[in-house]
Amino acid sequence: ENVGNVKRQLAKLFEVSLRATVPTETDIVPLVDACIVKSGVRFGDYQCNNAMGIWSKIRGEQTEFRGPAAVGQAIMQNLPPSDMLESCSVAGPGFVNVVLSRNWIAESLQKMLIDGIDTWAPRLPIKRAVVDFSSPNIAKEMHVGHLRSTIIGDTFARMLEFSHVEVLRRNHVGDWGTQFGMLIEFLFEKFPNPEDVNEAAIGDLQTFYKASKVRFDSDPEFKQRAQQAVVRLQGGEDKYHKAWKQICEISRTEFHRVYERLDIQLEEKGESFYNPYIPGVLEELNKKGMIEDNQGARVIFAQGVKVPLIVVKSDGGYNYASTDLAALWYRLNEEKAEWIIYLTDVGQQQHFDMLFKAAKRAGWLPADDDSYPKATHVGFGLVLGEDGKRFRTRSSEVVRLVDLLDEAKSRSKTALLERDTAKEWPEEEVEKTSQAVGYGAVKYADLKNNKLTNYTFNFDQMLNDKGNTAVYLLYAHARICSIIRKSGKDIEEVKRITKIALDHEDERALGLHLVQFSEVVEEACINLLPNVLCEYLYNLSEIFTKKFYSNCQVVGSAEESSRLLLCEATASVMRKCFHLLGIVPVYKI
Ligand code: ARG
Repeated sequence: ENVGNVKRQLAKLFEVSLRATVPTETDIVPLVDACIVKSGVRFGDYQCNNAMGIWSKIRGEQTEFRGPAAVGQAIMQNLPPSDMLESCSVAGPGFVNVVLSRNWIAESLQKMLIDGIDTWAPRLPIKRAVVDFSSPNIAKEMHVGHLRSTIIGDTFARMLEFSHVEVLRRNHVGDWGTQFGMLIEFLFEKFPNPEDVNEAAIGDLQTFYKASKVRFDSDPEFKQRAQQAVVRLQGGEDKYHKAWKQICEISRTEFHRVYERLDIQLEEKGESFYNPYIPGVLEELNKKGMIEDNQGARVIFAQGVKVPLIVVKSDGGYNYASTDLAALWYRLNEEKAEWIIYLTDVGQQQHFDMLFKAAKRAGWLPADDDSYPKATHVGFGLVLGEDGKRFRTRSSEVVRLVDLLDEAKSRSKTALLERDTAKEWPEEEVEKTSQAVGYGAVKYADLKNNKLTNYTFNFDQMLNDKGNTAVYLLYAHARICSIIRKSGKDIEEVKRITKIALDHEDERALGLHLVQFSEVVEEACINLLPNVLCEYLYNLSEIFTKKFYSNCQVVGSAEESSRLLLCEATASVMRKCFHLLGIVPVYKI
């Protein structure tokens, strides 16, 4: 049970009250879940909205109630006593508004400060999940499109891990397929002696890919050899397998450079891994009568989708879809994952739609989307350039991820060195901070958008130190840390001896927002919406700066100790948000 989740705690109280208000024994209405929504500040902090629904069900029956407002009154009166509540009231057609007790908020904060913020972690009804993310293709450059998958996927993995779910972070690398015939033949041509093959000699793999493609398209004899190479590779011939491994290894080194910089943990299980499982899986589906012939290919039709999912090509080969079927089977049956989350651009939505429909038909997944095991595709929009078109460099090449990160870092370094304070910093400190700020800015700019929409990549915007950016947030955090430092007090000591008080309106507003952390993470996690967490973090920073810190003097005031604890609680929550978003906090500016 998660003690940090205010909404759930309140729901429990309301459940008791609803049971008393409309006893299930009477069979008049099914038991209704307490539905708690955050309400506007005017009426209260939370609201229970069950009265209208209950009224609409019982109005035809014999009932002592005269209308929804009366039902709301009864719900309020039947609430068990709780130290969470300061006051309740009923508004309009039975909305029960709740004002949380200041004391209770203060005590929750104090407990969190002492026991650690992990006590506020959500509890999910699953033990293990697969997050399939990043997943670039071998021999093709990891570009800014893969950036979104990598960043968003890492955040989901972090949120799930925080919620006590074991996460298998899977890199479903495109390391199998017909392009390898061409690459291998080209490799043989360029390096007759396999000993000569290494990253330096091959150089940029993307260029290598392009050159081999030119060769493939222009020379029929080469093309034929390349096609045979695929067959020989898939037949397991040693020489071909070795060449394939060499090519994969070079790509892997390149990918790793990006992951290392962004501090992304991933375990590669590429397409090739699932290859041996394909025949068995297709056989199972065939026995279930799901696979049919279609223009020489073997396909699965999904309900409501016109084009079929091709699982065996007309040349007898397997493809992306057959691999994904085998991977899904493996994740459910071998890895026992209860939630499998895929991150790709929206362009692949139909592929996953058909895949999941097939899995449901096969009985691998339950028919409804609310129960586990569950498979979810998260499709995200394109990354656009200033011109509103797909993000490219001036020479219309794909933008390389490493260059982008370099630039983000160097720009934030320039900005940092313009500040007087940072001028005397040791070089190492400058490096560390500009990296945290630069990479953080790139990640945050991506995460704060609704994941489905396209987003325009703009360095000036994401590195602005005002507005909803990582720069602003990181500096806000650093400023809070410096308030605490400058007080000269030992905060661990203060935690133990001072009780938090929330007497000022703005102290209370800050406290309330802080205790809502847990429910926000849970919502962001369950609905896979990192932007919800970003919004919470930004609002936290605004409430701290514009309300609390503007109106409540901290250092030198009578309430200094309690207010320092509010600073500390804010900093802790901010740091946990940064952590979940994959951003490294800074402590000094
Ligand atoms: N390699 C694919 C691409 O770059 C993404 C793979 C996503 N994962 C999956 N299981 N299909 O488009």
